[in-house]
Amino acid sequence: MTTMMRAFETGAAAVPSTLGTAAAPVDSGALAEPTSQPAQEAAPPHGRAIVITSGKGGVGKTTTTANLGTALAARGARVVLVDADVGLRNLDIVLGLESRVRFHLLDVLEEKATLDEALVRDKRSESLSLLAAAQTREKEDVVTAAMTALIVELRRRFDYVLIDCPAGIEKGFKNAVAGAQHAIIVCTPEVSAVRDADRVVGLLPNDWRPELIVNRVRPQLVKKGKMLSVDDVNDILHLPLLGVIAEEPGVIIATNKGEPLALDATSETGAAYRAMAAKLAGDALPASPRPQDGRAGSWFAKLGTLLGGR
Ligand SMILES: Nc1ncnc2c1ncn2[C@@H]1O[C@H](COP(=O)(O)OP(=O)(O)OP(=O)(O)O)[C@@H](O)[C@H]1O
Ligand SMILES: [Mg+2]
Repeated sequence: MTTMMRAFETGAAAVPSTLGTAAAPVDSGALAEPTSQPAQEAAPPHGRAIVITSGKGGVGKTTTTANLGTALAARGARVVLVDADVGLRNLDIVLGLESRVRFHLLDVLEEKATLDEALVRDKRSESLSLLAAAQTREKEDVVTAAMTALIVELRRRFDYVLIDCPAGIEKGFKNAVAGAQHAIIVCTPEVSAVRDADRVVGLLPNDWRPELIVNRVRPQLVKKGKMLSVDDVNDILHLPLLGVIAEEPGVIIATNKGEPLALDATSETGAAYRAMAAKLAGDALPASPRPQDGRAGSWFAKLGTLLGGR
């Protein structure tokens, strides 16, 4: 664990009792004080907590969280999506659930609502739930230890806990990462996004092996040498490639309708999200088709110069 990650782990105070009857000791060591609940009463936290992060803003973290979560739930997994972008909540809109949100993450952390009250069930899938972010609060209001305990409790109830991370590397990022066990890095084929992704990878715990999604690839531009290819991006980041998503107007339409493309059987992008979900779930799959093949050598040279190593 890096020095920075240890620094995330603030004191043991303010672990909410609203996490439900199963609220119990945390397995991460982040909370120094055990709770009063006997350990045997709590189900083990079997679920997998994955943070979707990027450093750079607007590259597709929320879109990815909504679509991967939808695709995992469609496979029968119990999934909760946590909007950790306090102050700028969006995930509810992408899922079309905004009218159902009554309580949010900070209500639970501050014991104004129970987890059961705050979890919003998806319209389409029984096994998909959302924990919305507060819209009118600050990222600094979240106590890291309480957030960590919340994620552990969610791991008791769900198979996957997908955490939609805010942009940046400040407190909101630290809180989103604190309870997670794995990271998916979303990056677009832009030099600035690659540099930010590289920085974020360097801030994650040393023993993590984050996976990469390259989003908004435009194959025609890659072929013409006007856009970085997936290989250009990953020659810098060196991460296992979870998948590639093309630039696709349907994503914006789907977002506005609150209907993730992962549910659209006719959409190639939907199929790409479903393939990523299958890979995450451990299915052995043939390599998913990548929406580009070309490679722009000049871009790679530029990238190498700009990044110059971590
Ligand atoms: N593959 C894609 N093709 C076209 N548009 C996309 C694609 N992926 C994301 N977008 C659009 O890009 C915009 C930003 O996406 P999104 O909100 O998911 O990014 P984000 O990383 O969560 O942003 P922020 O850092 O602000 O939280 C949205 O309008 C979304 O619809
Ligand atoms: Mg977002």
